[in-house]
Amino acid sequence: MRRHSALWAAWAAALGLLFAQTASANTDHPPLQQISAAECGACHQAIFQEWQQSMHANSTALKDPIHGAMYRMMVGDPTQEGVTDKVSGKYPICLQCHAPMAAKEGSTKLDAKPTYAEGVTCVSCHTMSHYNGLKAADGSQQVGAKAYTFSNDALQSGNGAWNGQQPALVPGAGHGNPSVNPFPHAANPLLFKRSSQCLGCHEKLINANGVATCAIGETALGEGTTPTCQSCHMPVVNGHTSHALPGGHDPAMVRRAVILTLSAQSGDKGIQSKVTLQNKLAHDFPTGAPFRNLVLKITAMDAASQIIWQNFKENPLTEDPQAVLMLKVTDSEGKPVMPMLASKVAADTRLQAGESRTLDYLIPVQGVVAVRAELYYNLVNKGMIEKIGDQLPEPLKRPLLVSRAEARLP
Ligand code: HEC
Ligand code: HEC
Ligand code: HEC
Ligand code: HEC
Ligand code: HEC
Repeated sequence: MRRHSALWAAWAAALGLLFAQTASANTDHPPLQQISAAECGACHQAIFQEWQQSMHANSTALKDPIHGAMYRMMVGDPTQEGVTDKVSGKYPICLQCHAPMAAKEGSTKLDAKPTYAEGVTCVSCHTMSHYNGLKAADGSQQVGAKAYTFSNDALQSGNGAWNGQQPALVPGAGHGNPSVNPFPHAANPLLFKRSSQCLGCHEKLINANGVATCAIGETALGEGTTPTCQSCHMPVVNGHTSHALPGGHDPAMVRRAVILTLSAQSGDKGIQSKVTLQNKLAHDFPTGAPFRNLVLKITAMDAASQIIWQNFKENPLTEDPQAVLMLKVTDSEGKPVMPMLASKVAADTRLQAGESRTLDYLIPVQGVVAVRAELYYNLVNKGMIEKIGDQLPEPLKRPLLVSRAEARLP
């Protein structure tokens, strides 16, 4: 081991060239699963920078304020060794997905090693060699790092092989060319070019009461089907596969999800208005964690542009339930609870994959000249803001305007 570290330091210092002359065998590298993103990033700069901004790099309780607040409440201090889940009394399951390299080594002290603190880091994915599904041999649930087999011998990737060309990044370096590169490399397209690369952490998590949480949900997106997750979430940007992985935290990505259209007509009883929401995604919208939600706001204006009617004033959930799109999980008595403590799904009003939904509104007032529809996305719901809101930065609590449409009456 000592010899390996010394060689590694020499290699890192000389960025490949020096090592190229001193390396004798392909096994002269530190354990692959302990290589930090910064070290990969020394060569893969663009990918490193994209990843650094992504929620994958910010997935642990040390960095993500929303997950961090909930983790501290349900588990404890992410810098302490030996903390357990307060409900199960066991090793915190959260880490299997939010800090997979720590979970693999059974640690809960997330600042102990760079790869722990980096969350879903380069080697989390690029040492995964096989997806085993979410069910263990004994029928129990296995998620996150537990759902995969990892390789200690070779980095895994879509193509794997050294392409034989002199790489532009670092003179003399190239995976798969054992004489010049410390990292052996294996081609693994069956994992890397399929949704299985993501499903171990993203398909679903069943809590102790059998309720699915932190999930993309039951969708048509299986292991071997298309479109793959990568086709939307990892596009080719500037000639390489982007690792920015935009999702709910990215306004531009959220705005792609839906087509909103609106019509309004005068009738006997008032203005008849129809709002259509069409989900363009291969999964639910909103998706993922149950506290994500959408709120549709309808307003009617008079000739002076004053609002003379709206579908809700304070609480859309009670005043106009159809305007709230979310997975509502509750305790057995129907009270809203944290997803991990939920015992039933009270309602699922999210738009399903590909769904087009029309909502009708009768606006029973005189003098309407325009009707407006606005769709807002919230990363966290009201209940959570009441519980942990003081620990969350303002922008995370602010509704995002996803889409708007206006119809004028003759
Ligand atoms: C010394 C510079 C260097 C370092 C450090 C480095 N790489 Fe690479 N990597 C390269 C080069 C150069 C290529 C292109 C190789 C080629 O085409 O032959 C490459 C290619 C790859 C590929 C694409 C292989 C394929 O064809 O599918 C992946 C994935 C990859 N690296 C991951 C990593 C990861 C993960 C790390 C950190 C553990 C890392 N690399 C560290 C230089 C480096
Ligand atoms: C969430 C899993 C995941 C993480 C984390 C991840 N990668 Fe990748 N990486 C992929 C997938 C999937 C591909 C695409 C494979 C394909 O289609 O051939 C890929 C492709 C690559 C490639 C090939 C370049 C290209 O244009 O296709 C390189 C190099 C690479 N990754 C390096 C890294 C580095 C460096 C990091 C950390 C900074 C990293 N990856 C983090 C999943 C991941
Ligand atoms: C080891 C587990 C793991 C793997 C594998 C993984 N992810 Fe993730 N991913 C996470 C976690 C955990 C988060 C949430 C981070 C947070 O918000 O705290 C996340 C976040 C995301 C987000 C951003 C969500 C947001 O709120 O903005 C997207 C998009 C995403 N992942 C897509 C993918 C895709 C596509 C793949 C496969 C190529 C993949 N992930 C593989 C664990 C994983
Ligand atoms: C047709 C394109 C498309 C495909 C295919 C797709 N997604 Fe998405 N995904 C999106 C868009 C657009 C959003 C943003 C809207 C939203 O957050 O619901 C999104 C959102 C997400 C989020 C953010 C959830 C959150 O709570 O912040 C995650 C995670 C995610 N997708 C993972 C996946 C995974 C995993 C797959 C494959 C099983 C996949 N997606 C397939 C387009 C796609
Ligand atoms: C099976 C994998 C998995 C496990 C286990 C898991 N999560 Fe997550 N979690 C995710 C993924 C993936 C996302 C991000 C995308 C989404 O919304 O689905 C996420 C998102 C979150 C978010 C939202 C973060 C944000 O920035 O908006 C919170 C909070 C959260 N998880 C808390 C927890 C807690 C607390 C635990 C443990 C009790 C836990 N999760 C266990 C996969 C998991």
